[in-house]
Parts: sequence; structure tokens; C-alpha cells
Amino acid sequence: MLNQIFNKIDYGQELSKKDLACLLALENQGDLDVLYDKADKVRQKYVGDEVHLRGLIEFSNYCRKNCNYCGIRRGNSKIKRYRMAIEEILDTVSVAEELGYRTVVLQSGEDMSYTVDKLAELIKRIKQQVDVAITLSIGERPREEYERLYEAGADRFLLRFETSSRELYRWLHPDSSYDERMEILTWLKEIGYQVGSGVMIGLPGQTVEGLAQDILKFKELDLDMVGVGPYICHEETPLAGHASGNVEMTFKVIALTRIVIPYAHIPATTALATLRPADGREKALQLGANVVMPNVTPAKYRALYELYPSKVCVQEEAAQCHGCMYGRIYSLGRPISQDYGHSFRRISQ
Ligand code: 5AD
Ligand code: SF4
Ligand code: FES
Repeated sequence: MLNQIFNKIDYGQELSKKDLACLLALENQGDLDVLYDKADKVRQKYVGDEVHLRGLIEFSNYCRKNCNYCGIRRGNSKIKRYRMAIEEILDTVSVAEELGYRTVVLQSGEDMSYTVDKLAELIKRIKQQVDVAITLSIGERPREEYERLYEAGADRFLLRFETSSRELYRWLHPDSSYDERMEILTWLKEIGYQVGSGVMIGLPGQTVEGLAQDILKFKELDLDMVGVGPYICHEETPLAGHASGNVEMTFKVIALTRIVIPYAHIPATTALATLRPADGREKALQLGANVVMPNVTPAKYRALYELYPSKVCVQEEAAQCHGCMYGRIYSLGRPISQDYGHSFRRISQ
């Protein structure tokens, strides 16, 4: 059975939900090593050895939503909230460019005080002053706003669907709808963005069948980028006391995502580094991932952007994370891309 599924991978045949669930249930280290090796080969064949760096700017931790897993949900009154001024964001983008990053990711909670006018203006000014690609990760907005931001110069958009199980989605998101989220992902693609989505691994109630379905959903949505990281329990949320996600399961999902959508950009996530600081990101880069997102948020804000506790890089400055990531990637013998790192999926079509 297992050999048949491995053969399917070798011949580039489609994996069924059952195949994926079977692989996700693997526990034998020898079998896992075979799987990871196949994923690494697919990564090398389709997206090459280069690692793409994206400078992450967490510009506001205000959020109008109350997702049950998230540390910056509006119901968490224990955290100090911050918003970066437009000039401060621009300065931070310049820091990212000086460090050599060719993409900045502007991420925040759903903070509507940044109106579409303000954001469009910010994007235009970045594009005038700095030579970077822009990825937005700012949550749900009306379609017209996504259109305006794209016209202003934004290149990419990240919006995870978190789980493809409707029941689980509803339980986790008191103020969002699964259908709306899926609809937004199709809008973003229609508008022209390079679109990233993804899920968390180890959410309470998640099953391997559910994760297999998530991976097929990535393919169905024809994503340019797929971010997969472990769920990490935050004590100031309704999910306090639940177990965090499992690192090995996260590796399996990354490897299978690479195999199922070979051209995708797949990051080795910060959440993974948080659960396995020594080598979580390195391992991910050796079993399918090809992107890392070093933090460039000004140091004074970092600890406040607490989606989950014990996040790595909270004590560091942008230049330290830059040096750290260069060293880690260099130690793997992988080159760092000097390019914007746009979607491969589009180039290949
Ligand atoms: N653990 C891990 N990831 C989380 N995110 C939010 N809260 C947590 C948590 N407790 C992730 C979500 C969101 C992304 C920005 O951060 O997947 O889409
Ligand atoms: Fe807000 Fe995003 Fe956290 Fe949900 S996951 S509470 S939308 S920052
Ligand atoms: Fe931030 Fe290593 S990437 S300290």
C-alpha cells in the first residue's frame, strides 16, 4: 500500500484524500525520511535551491475579530495595543530594503483605522521610494478595497483559511464565515494578486482526514503560496489549556503540500521555529519549504504582536534576524535569492 503511494509520487500521479491521510498517519522514521526526501527532490526540481526572504512588518496588533486561537483577538484586554504611523512603516520598509529583502509583508490584525485611502497611499509611496514587492496580510475587507490596493501597487495577498472543515471553522471563528473567506480568496485571484493561504496544524478537533482535505483545498484554490504552521496555545484565549500542534505533523503537511502543488512558494514559518528553535526552519527547508520571513518589525513592538506565546525573534533587531537567517541558510548550502521571488506558478503557465 505505502509503496504504491510512493510510486504515485515518483510518477507525478495525483494523490487521493485517502493516500494523503495514509501518509499523514505515518510514524515510522524510515518511511518519513523517504517521504521527506521525495518532497525535497520535488522542491529542487520545480522551484530550485534558492531560498526567498520576505521581510515581515507587523504594523498593528489591533483587531476587530475574536478568533478563538489568537492572542491579539479583540477580547484579549491584557495586551498593550500599538499602531505604527505611516512614516514609521515607510522607514521600516527602507530598513528591509537595505538589508537586501526584495519583498515586504505588511501584516496586521483587522485594523480598520488604516482606511483603504491610507493604505493605498502607503503602497504608492513604498513603490515610488523603495524597490520591493509588496505582500499584504491584513484580513478581510470589501472587494473594492482589495481592488484599490492592487491598483495602488500591492503584488500579493496572504489570507489563510485555517481549516477546510466547516464545523471547525465555525467553532474557531465567532465572527467570520467559511464561505466568505473562500469567496475572498477567489476575488483576490480574479483581481490579479498572487495569493497565499494556509492552515494551522494541531487545532483542537482536527484529524488527518481533515488535513488531507486541507491539502486538496490548496490545490483546488490553485494557490501561489501556502503557509503551514503549528497551532500554539495562547493562555489568554478561549482555547487555553489545549495542546499545541505537533512539529512532525507540520513537517508532513509541508512535505505533502510541496508534492501536491509543486510550484508553490512555501515558507518555513515562525510558529515552527517557535516550537523547534534549534532547527525547525532548517528542517522545513529540507523537506519542501523554499521561503523564510525574517521579522523586521521595530524591536519595541515585537513582543506585542503576540499571536501565540514564546515567539522567536522577539528580543532581536531586524539586522540580527537578517544575520541569523543568512547563517542558517548558508549552513544548508542553499543560495539566497536576489530576486523579488514572484509566483513560479504564473511563470510556468
Ligand atoms: N498559533 C499559531 N498560529 C496562529 N495564528 C494566529 N494565532 C495563532 C496561534 N495561536 C496564525 C493564523 C493567522 C496567522 C497570521 O497567524 O493562521 O492566519
Ligand atoms: Fe484578528 Fe487575525 Fe488574530 Fe483572527 S487571527 S483575531 S483576524 S489577528
Ligand atoms: Fe530572528 Fe534568528 S531569525 S533571531
